[in-house]
Amino acid sequence: DYPFLCKICKKEKALIEIPSQKIKVCKNCYNNFFENRIKKTIEKYKMIKPQDKVGVFLSGGKDSSTLLFVLKKLYPDINLQAIFINLGIRYYSDKLEDLVKNFCKNLEVPLFIYNLPEKEGYRIDDFIFTYFKDKVCSACGAIKRYLFSKIAKELELNVIATGHHLDDTISVMLNLFFQGDFLGIAKLQPSLPPLFPNQVKKIKPLYTTPEKEILYYAILNEIPFENFKCPHANVTPSKKIKELLTKLEDENRQIKYQLLSVFTKKLIPLIKSNYKEEVLSLCIKCGEITSSQDKICSRCKRIELLEKIDNKTLELTKEEFED
Ligand code: FES
Ligand code: ZN
Repeated sequence: DYPFLCKICKKEKALIEIPSQKIKVCKNCYNNFFENRIKKTIEKYKMIKPQDKVGVFLSGGKDSSTLLFVLKKLYPDINLQAIFINLGIRYYSDKLEDLVKNFCKNLEVPLFIYNLPEKEGYRIDDFIFTYFKDKVCSACGAIKRYLFSKIAKELELNVIATGHHLDDTISVMLNLFFQGDFLGIAKLQPSLPPLFPNQVKKIKPLYTTPEKEILYYAILNEIPFENFKCPHANVTPSKKIKELLTKLEDENRQIKYQLLSVFTKKLIPLIKSNYKEEVLSLCIKCGEITSSQDKICSRCKRIELLEKIDNKTLELTKEEFED
C-alpha cells in the first residue's frame, strides 16, 4: 500500500486517524465509519420510530451538537427539535445561546430557548449562596432533569436524545462500581422507556462512540462548539476515572469496549436478577419522578433552599449542610 492513502477506500489521501482503530483514513471514510456506528446503535436498540418527535437539548458543547448534526444527516425526514436552556450562568450562558442559535439556523433545525432566570426567577449562579458551594453542579443537574421533562411535555416530544458517549458511560459505571451502587449501574441503559405514562423515552445514540472520535468529527465537519467548561464545573470522581481510562487506553485501545461488554453482558444481567425494582413516586410539589422517601424531588429541595435565602430564614441543620 501507498502509505498516505486512506486505509478504507484506498483512493483518497489519508487525512485523519480513527483513534479506536488506529488506521488513517480520508474525511469521507471517517464520516461514514462514525455515522454508521451511530446508526447501528440506534437500530440495535430501536431508539427512533419514523413518526417520533425527537428533542435534542444542546449545551453548546461538542457532544450534543454533534448528535444533532448526525441525526439530521442520517434521518433528514424525522421531526427534530433542538432545545437550549439558558441557565443564567454569568459570562457563560448568553455566549452559548448565541452559538447554538447560529448553529441551528445553519442546520435548519427549529430551536426552542428556555430562559431559566426569566421563567423561574433564579440563576444557577444563585446556588453558590446555599452553602452547597461545591454542589452547584448537582443542583444544576437536578434542575436540568426536571426541565428536560417539563419542556418535553410542552413541546410534545416522544423522545429525548442525549449526547452521552462511551467515555461517559464507562467512567460513570466504574464510579458507581467503586461506590457499590449496583442498582445505579443497571439503570445506565442506552434506551430508557418512559417510567410513567406522561414521561418521554430517553436515548443515547452516542453510547458506543468514544469521546475523542466525536471531537475529531466535530472539527472535521466544522461543527461549532464551546470548549470552555462551565465556571462551576469541578473535578468529580468520574472525571478522574476518565483520565485514568485514557492512560489505560495507551496500552489497550479496546479497553473501553471490553469494559462496556463486561458491564452490559455480564454484570447488569446479574444485578437485575438479584435486585428488586426501586420504588418510584411522583414529587408532591412538581409532579416529576423521584425515588426520595419523602416524595419531594431533589430539584424541589434545592428550590426550597433558595427561597429560604430570599426570605433570610436560612438556617441549615447539620444534616443539610453535610448533604
Ligand atoms: Fe450546570 Fe455548570 S452547567 S453547573
Ligand atoms: Zn419536585
